[in-house]
Amino acid sequence: TFVVTESCIKCKYTDCVEVCPVDCFHEGPNFLVINPEECIDCTLCEPECPVNAIYPEDDVPRGQEVYVALNAELAALWPIISTRKDPPADAAEWDDRTGKLPLLER
Ligand code: SF4
Ligand code: F3S
Repeated sequence: TFVVTESCIKCKYTDCVEVCPVDCFHEGPNFLVINPEECIDCTLCEPECPVNAIYPEDDVPRGQEVYVALNAELAALWPIISTRKDPPADAAEWDDRTGKLPLLER
């Protein structure tokens, strides 16, 4: 499965959702996740993210392993998103920030 990691928090550009053939992205207030039960590993979403937030499960950056479980947990709680929408107005200010996990809203 593919996994959405920290870079997405407060950026949420949603370019990724348009290309997913199985609609397995789920949307929270300021972050998206991939449902690992539905992802078919097609790889299409990975290059679409302008902040490189999407990785194969086996290639998640060191220190971001927690996002594997978070995608599974939150996908069960959040609604599906399959259409692109405008990102937050201040998304660009958060593009290259790290340590965003405490800012993740549920
Ligand atoms: Fe969807 Fe393919 Fe990305 Fe999995 S790898 S989330 S199936 S676009
Ligand atoms: Fe997030 Fe990147 Fe998609 S910022 S919403 S994973 S395009």
